[in-house]
Amino acid sequence: MTITKSLPARAQAQLSVQEVRIQRGGHLVLDGVSLTVAPGNRWGVVGENGRGKSTLLHVLAGTLPPDAGSVHLIGTIGVAEQELRADDGATVADAVENELAAARSALRTLEVSSAALADGSPGAEEQYATALAAAEVLDAWDADRRVDVALEALGAVTDRSRRLAELSVGQRYRVRLACLLGAGHDFLLLDEPTNHLDAAGLAFLTDRLRSHPGGVVVVSHDRALLSDVATSVLDLDPSQDGRPRVYGDGFAGYQARRRAEVARWQVEFDEQQAEQARLAHDLSQAQHRLQTGWRPDKGTGKHQRATRAPGLVRAVHRRQEELRRHVVDAPEPPLRFRMPPLPGRPGVVLLRADDVRVTGRLPHSVSVEVQSGSRLVITGPNGAGKSTLLAVLAGELPPTAGRVHRSLAARVRLLRQESPRADTRTAAEVFAAHIQHLVQTGVGGGGAAVSLSGLGLFRSADLRRPVGDLSMGQQRRLDLALALASRPQVLLLDEPTNHLSIALVDELTEALQATDAAVVVATHDRQLQHDLDAWPRLAIETTSPSSPEQCEGLAS
Ligand SMILES: Nc1ncnc2c1ncn2[C@@H]1O[C@H](COP(=O)(O)OP(=O)(O)OP(=O)(O)O)[C@@H](O)[C@H]1O
Ligand SMILES: [Mg+2]
Repeated sequence: MTITKSLPARAQAQLSVQEVRIQRGGHLVLDGVSLTVAPGNRWGVVGENGRGKSTLLHVLAGTLPPDAGSVHLIGTIGVAEQELRADDGATVADAVENELAAARSALRTLEVSSAALADGSPGAEEQYATALAAAEVLDAWDADRRVDVALEALGAVTDRSRRLAELSVGQRYRVRLACLLGAGHDFLLLDEPTNHLDAAGLAFLTDRLRSHPGGVVVVSHDRALLSDVATSVLDLDPSQDGRPRVYGDGFAGYQARRRAEVARWQVEFDEQQAEQARLAHDLSQAQHRLQTGWRPDKGTGKHQRATRAPGLVRAVHRRQEELRRHVVDAPEPPLRFRMPPLPGRPGVVLLRADDVRVTGRLPHSVSVEVQSGSRLVITGPNGAGKSTLLAVLAGELPPTAGRVHRSLAARVRLLRQESPRADTRTAAEVFAAHIQHLVQTGVGGGGAAVSLSGLGLFRSADLRRPVGDLSMGQQRRLDLALALASRPQVLLLDEPTNHLSIALVDELTEALQATDAAVVVATHDRQLQHDLDAWPRLAIETTSPSSPEQCEGLAS
């Protein structure tokens, strides 16, 4: 592993991994992965949840040594991890100092060498020139301003004395991202950066990534961001030759070529299956003819009559051997989400919130009526209170003012924005315990129990792994399964696309449009908002407390 990362290398910066192989939790996660990131390259990394996208980012960042393969870095890297923990006591200022350490140190060295220069110390001129060059390459004088601009634009906490542990996950992520954008690293490695950004933050991030002079690697399920930013795409999903695929013509180009490749793979596989079936049939016929002493029709030459049947068997064997050598692997059947039927109770108002408000979290009073089968999209900037409103509707948070009425026996389920803490039980055990709890508490499922494997959210091997070992997206898939387990009549979904793979986001969007249950979705996801643009919309704003938002009598 070659890593040189004290100062930005700008045009000379290099980052690459070659033939990386890595196991995690006893499973082979990445094999034969190579990626070269040069200044000006913007890579999008895609793949099913649990495929190893975050693992690859850690390998690129030099924080996870691969079992085989090499990592090569010249320059500096800034990493925004998918999961962000906060050290006890660390503040926003600490996060800023951490990212600006190189700039601070360059300015200190410049100060010392400038004093030495004034004193006429020997060698001072050279030291000063080196220190000045370092400060210039970092544009160290402007670093704080850059961070402040980014904090502001991303809607992050600007008060540097705030403790990170007291901030929400989204607030912490925005602080981290702003620091990275301000620090001026050669390479930016961002894992699901859109999860916690509102429309203004997304526009800022998109703009900054597009104009970043260094290299960018972004792991994202956000189709709009990938379309706007990625110049190349690395797809970690299985391919016909078993190696990760690289596409050089942006996200749209990737989508078209990937679709064509999978279709061609399937055709080749189907053709080969048909050919093998035909050969097996020919072979068994030839063998049967040999056993029953079959001879060609009269008139055929004597020599031919004696050798034709064994010759046929040999030819079939040869062909079968050939096919075995060039076997086309079956395309791994992609996971396909199957939404369980959810019940509707036409004409019934299942849930109603009248002028609800929560001090400090949902400043304007909001009214919402949820009829059976109705739809609603809640939008608004970060901090407007979307999650708070959903928690109030779910009955998990009492409003400071206003009232929530819920129809007796209405089953309301909330998919929270973030997964709860990691569990040592397996996904199958967590789901089974949940079903048992539902049965014990008399929450009927409105039909047959939902089966976890039937939802198509997990490969069976992953169901037997501890939840704590699952990827973020896999943990969120489990949350979705738990939310669906009781066959709710009202589904409240808080940023449902966060952490989910692109394929699942598409399938879920389709399922939400078709279900009989009422669905309330809070989302900043531009593609999801576009896909659901026929749904009624409630825009929560933070700006004018005098004009409370109202949204009643939702359309079904
Ligand atoms: N700390 C860990 N211990 C054991 N296994 C792990 C650990 N972290 C990840 N894994 C496993 O490695 C595999 C890849 O995980 P990774 O987080 O890289 O996936 P991902 O592609 O980023 O998924 P997602 O889209 O859900 O973020 C998964 O099977 C996961 O269960
Ligand atoms: Mg990940």
